[in-house]
Amino acid sequence: MCGIFGYIGKKEAVPFIIEGLRKLEYRGYDSSGVATLENNKLFVSKCVGKIANLENLLKQKPIGGQIGVGHTRWATHGKPSSENSHPHEDCQGKIVVVHNGIIENYLELRRELADKGHKFSSATDTEVLAHLIEECYKDNLLKAVAQALCLVRGSYALAVISEHEPDKIIVARHGSPLIIGFGNDECFISSDIPAMLKYTDKIIQLDNEEVGELTIDQFTAFDLDVNKIEKEIELISWDPESAEKGGYAHFMLKEIHEQPNAVRKTIEGRVRAEDHKVHFDELNLTDEEINKVNRVVFTACGTSWHAGLVGEYLFEQFAKIPTEVEYAAEFRYRHPVIDENTLVIAITQSGETADTLGAVWEAKAQHAKVISICNVVGSSIARESHGVVYTNAGPEIGVASTKAFTTQLTVIYLLAIIFGKRKGTISNSEATKLINDLIEIPGKLEQTLYREEEIKKIAQKIYKANNALYLGRGKGFPIALEGALKLKEVSYVHAEGYPAAEMKHGPIALIDKNMPVVILALSGRRYEKILGNIEEVRARGGLVIAIACEGDETIKECADEIIYIPHTSVPLSPILAVVPLQLLAYYIAVKRGCHVDQPRNLAKSVTVE
Ligand code: AGP
Repeated sequence: MCGIFGYIGKKEAVPFIIEGLRKLEYRGYDSSGVATLENNKLFVSKCVGKIANLENLLKQKPIGGQIGVGHTRWATHGKPSSENSHPHEDCQGKIVVVHNGIIENYLELRRELADKGHKFSSATDTEVLAHLIEECYKDNLLKAVAQALCLVRGSYALAVISEHEPDKIIVARHGSPLIIGFGNDECFISSDIPAMLKYTDKIIQLDNEEVGELTIDQFTAFDLDVNKIEKEIELISWDPESAEKGGYAHFMLKEIHEQPNAVRKTIEGRVRAEDHKVHFDELNLTDEEINKVNRVVFTACGTSWHAGLVGEYLFEQFAKIPTEVEYAAEFRYRHPVIDENTLVIAITQSGETADTLGAVWEAKAQHAKVISICNVVGSSIARESHGVVYTNAGPEIGVASTKAFTTQLTVIYLLAIIFGKRKGTISNSEATKLINDLIEIPGKLEQTLYREEEIKKIAQKIYKANNALYLGRGKGFPIALEGALKLKEVSYVHAEGYPAAEMKHGPIALIDKNMPVVILALSGRRYEKILGNIEEVRARGGLVIAIACEGDETIKECADEIIYIPHTSVPLSPILAVVPLQLLAYYIAVKRGCHVDQPRNLAKSVTVE
């Protein structure tokens, strides 16, 4: 996820753009840049690091002009570097582009353009767009952009300025948001509403496969065939504070709701069901290296460690490779017995967790192959790993990890398919079915989020409880742990996740009418056993909140509260089942008046041991 901001008006563009990029920094902050037009000439300034670095660069070498576009980057293709920063230019330096999204067919387009003589200066997918527009340009910039986008597969929010037509900004959108704002003798473009709210509450939101031409006093929208489209101006009533969160009360809630799109982004450009293809550009593992792997060790902390627990089930089920999960802090100091045939998979949202970084160093010292599953491109753990798979979830601001977790599970699921196919333990047809099941998950996540009001009501019933027990079996057990962690960290309620079968070996002594018990009662071969656990809890007066599959009538006879999730295959059920637990923790915390996004004593990334 990246941030785009643009200005066209009667004042200097750069101050507006810098302020807009600052407000968009949550969308990405590994590099940034600005391009302006002055006296029909283009000027570009860009650098790695935070917006502050760009501001310093502009103080040393100012660029002027009353039209400009800016970008703050969340690297997906090409590491954070000055040459990979946006804006990107065409060969002649007469067209510049800023882009948020992923161009899936950028490699084939790049090859075709290079064959026509185009020279590239970056490793990004976005630069291909600048050269493609140059290739299509004859005498109309908007038509050239529309024509270029007809050749593109993927997602984009795009802004283009050019010396060819120096009085306008061309914008386009498919899959990534782009908003146009209308001030007094000035207009703005932005990736989100908050960044422009200070200047205007009159906006137009581009829809998918729309392009637009913005001048100082006019905006015209078209479809990709350049047929004019009428757009209505909307009035925004948000206050600036709530607007930062896209209208949500907290980043945590926003990021819970971002999960359908986040999982879509994780999958985008990496799977093709028709030929059972799964591919990660940056994995950097040859087939031979995969064949050598005779053991997998997941290592992580916190929520990411829970993702590793699900990974243990998936790798052993799909790839029949002995797999274990280690707390990073334990793994790094216990002299693990691993070797060059062990694959260590570090899971980390931030890519900066000190213990996980230490575990990576220990694994490398023992000559293991190390890959990381990470959400921050170019982070320390990503750089230290032999290969990396990025979750592409976009920045996660809330301390409680939500979309990072479901996108980690998505990556692990795909990795298990890759290993299963390579090891010959799953057939091509099985792989195709597994991929098709995954492709349905974003839509099923959206359906799961429709239960929000029901979950909020349950939270309001149990928010005063000072303890809670979360129980699950099989792949439901890691989700029980994750649900308990969510409740602990945002609401300060003592909650414990436990294997449901272990309840009789101790925790059942805790159960009374004051103990809500959340149970993952998902369909599968352990379902009948779970019903038995529910009866044991009810017999001792515990309040049972069951997470069950839609259509399950049996559960109605034994649970006090039921939260249904859509049917999916058992291996994918954790991705759906965790969402009600995230929402339950969130609404309990809100009801208890806790600081949801920055809970006491916690940090978003634990960069100390
Ligand atoms: C999860 O909600 C917590 N914020 C915490 O457990 C987190 O998962 C853990 O600190 C690991 O962080 P990482 O994924 O960035 O390595």
